[in-house]
Amino acid sequence: MYRRLALVAVSLVFVAVAPGLVHSQGDIEFLADPAFENPQRPPAVFHHDEHNANAALEDQCWYCHHMDGSNPSPDEDSIGIPCSDCHAVDADDGSTSLLMAYHIQCQRCHTKEKKGPITCGECHVR
Ligand code: HEC
Ligand code: HEC
Ligand code: HEC
Ligand code: HEC
Repeated sequence: MYRRLALVAVSLVFVAVAPGLVHSQGDIEFLADPAFENPQRPPAVFHHDEHNANAALEDQCWYCHHMDGSNPSPDEDSIGIPCSDCHAVDADDGSTSLLMAYHIQCQRCHTKEKKGPITCGECHVR
């Protein structure tokens, strides 16, 4: 009986921890956003989990996955919503286009931190 309870407790802990694994994106190694229908460049190198560990961004998911990039806040995030849901390829309403969204987000931080690639060929590696 006690043994059985202990087993139940162990599996509850496992279930409680498991959803976190769903957010682990060890699989992303490069970005090839399908919203760009005729890509001009090779996909951008981006080892999601490794990058965010190296750059100490693991507790700042909300910075990239913001709800409003003009005012990113740790209180809300858009994890699971593709950038292209909010940033159109052909943004003609003055909002940030999908290309600019990627380029500004990636390059602004690399420039500021003086770390990470800033030339075309370093990200779009052939
Ligand atoms: C810090 C990394 C980075 C740098 C530097 C960078 N890009 Fe990109 N670029 C991206 C990401 C991320 C995307 C969106 C993902 C994708 O589809 O490749 C993208 C998308 C693109 C796209 C739209 C998709 C396509 O292939 O048509 C073009 C065009 C492009 N970049 C050209 C350039 C050019 C030209 C330069 C240099 C002036 C450059 N990029 C520098 C990261 C970068
Ligand atoms: C440096 C920017 C950045 C940070 C920080 C970041 N991500 Fe991402 N993440 C991205 C980009 C870019 C994509 C691809 C978005 C797209 O396809 O529209 C992505 C995709 C994802 C996806 C969807 C993956 C898929 O297979 O479609 C999940 C889930 C995710 N990230 C979770 C997280 C979590 C959790 C954190 C914090 C631990 C985090 N991200 C931190 C940039 C970032
Ligand atoms: C839920 C909607 C939403 C998602 C998803 C989203 N954004 Fe944004 N983003 C916004 C809004 C709203 C703004 C402010 C209006 C604008 O600039 O278009 C913004 C602005 C930006 C800006 C300009 C901010 C500035 O300070 O200049 C960048 C860069 C950006 N987003 C990049 C990204 C990238 C890259 C992704 C995917 C990793 C992403 N966004 C996902 C809503 C979103
Ligand atoms: C908030 C800051 C920040 C943002 C946003 C960011 N990076 Fe970085 N990136 C860094 C830092 C810091 C490094 C250097 C990490 C180190 O010291 O190894 C880096 C390194 C890299 C490297 C070198 C290899 C590696 O993984 O360390 C690549 C490739 C890269 N970034 C691509 C991108 C792309 C593509 C985006 C946009 C989707 C992006 N980064 C967004 C901070 C950022």
